[in-house]
Amino acid sequence: MTKIISFESSADETSVAIVEDGHIILSNAVATQINSHQRFGGIVPEVASRHHIEWITRVLDDALQTADVKPTELDAVAVTYGPGLVGSLLVGLMGAKTFALAHNLPIIPVNHLAGHIAAANFNQPIIYPALALMVSGGHTELVLMHEENSFAVLGETRDDAAGESFDKVGRLLKLPYPAGKTIDEMAHRGQATIKFPTAMAHEDNYDFSFSGLKSAVINYVHHAEQKGEIINHDDLATSFQNAVVDALIGRTRRALKDFPVKSFILAGGVAANTQLRQELATLLETIPETQFIPVPHQYTGDNAAMIGAAGYWHYKQKKFAGLDLNTDPGLDF
Ligand code: KG4
Ligand code: ZN
Repeated sequence: MTKIISFESSADETSVAIVEDGHIILSNAVATQINSHQRFGGIVPEVASRHHIEWITRVLDDALQTADVKPTELDAVAVTYGPGLVGSLLVGLMGAKTFALAHNLPIIPVNHLAGHIAAANFNQPIIYPALALMVSGGHTELVLMHEENSFAVLGETRDDAAGESFDKVGRLLKLPYPAGKTIDEMAHRGQATIKFPTAMAHEDNYDFSFSGLKSAVINYVHHAEQKGEIINHDDLATSFQNAVVDALIGRTRRALKDFPVKSFILAGGVAANTQLRQELATLLETIPETQFIPVPHQYTGDNAAMIGAAGYWHYKQKKFAGLDLNTDPGLDF
C-alpha cells in the first residue's frame, strides 16, 4: 500500500489529500476562495496567493486528521508545479517541500492537467490505449495515452478554452463567476432557439476554437439590446451550450474513429457539464470496445486527490524531484 499526500494550489482552491495506491481517497480537504473573487468577475492573483497562505496549514491538518494517517505512514509528497498562477503555485510548492523536508519524504512533481486526467481512476481503472478530453477553465485538449503518464496531444484550443467561453458568456449575462454550472442549469430550462456556429466543424484536425462562438453570442446580445428586444437568457444558455457541446463531441467522434482506444476519459472542470456527459455517454454506447470513464462529478474541479492519483504514476516510475523544484506556470503536456 502506497500512501501519497498531495498539495494543489494552482488557482483558487487550496487542497491537500491523502490517496492510497492512486485511487483510494483517504481524505481530500478543499478550501475554495470563489466568494473572494466573485465580485471581480475572475481570479485576482494577489488575493488568491494570500488566501492560499492563510489556508494551507489548516487544510493540511484537516487532510491528516480526516485520513487518520500519521506522517510516518506516508510514502511521498506530490505537488502541482504547473500550469497555474505563479503566486498560487508557490504556496502549495512551499507547503509540500516543507512537509517533505520535515518528514524525510520524496517529492513528486505533478502537472495539473495530468492530475485532472488521473482522476478518472476514481471512477474505474483506465485501460490503455486511452483517449482523454480535458476541458477546464484554461485548457481544452484531446490527448492520446499509450500507457500511464504518457500524453500525446492530438488537438487543443487555438484561442479560448471551453470553460473560459462559459465564464465569458456568464459575464455578459451578469452571472456569478465561474458561470459554467449556472449556464448548465439554465440550459436545462431553455430552448435551442438560436443557431450559433460550431467552429471548425469541417476542418481536418482535432483542434478547437471557441472565441468565434463567444463573439457570436456577444453580437447577438448587443444587437437585441440595440433593437430593444428582450432576450430569454435560458434560451441563450441552451443555444450556446449546444454549440460548445457540438464542437467537443464532433472532434471527439473524429479522434475516436481515427484512434481506436480501450478507454475514453472525460476530465477537467467542464466535465461536470450534464449535457456533455450525457451526449458523450450516448456516443460511447455506439463504440462498445471503448469504455467511457468520466471523472466522478465531485472530482472534476480542482482538488488535491487528483494530484495524488497522478503522483502515484510517478511514484511507480520513481520520478522524484529535489528540494530545488520550481513552479512552471506555463507548463503544458
Ligand atoms: O478544472 P477547473 O476546476 O479549473 C481549471 O483548471 O481551470 O475548471 C473550471 C472551469 C470553469 O471555467 C467553470 O465555469 C467550468 O470549469 N465548469 C463548468 C461546469 N462546472 C464547472 N462548465 C460547464 N458546465 C459545468 N457544469
Ligand atoms: Zn484545473
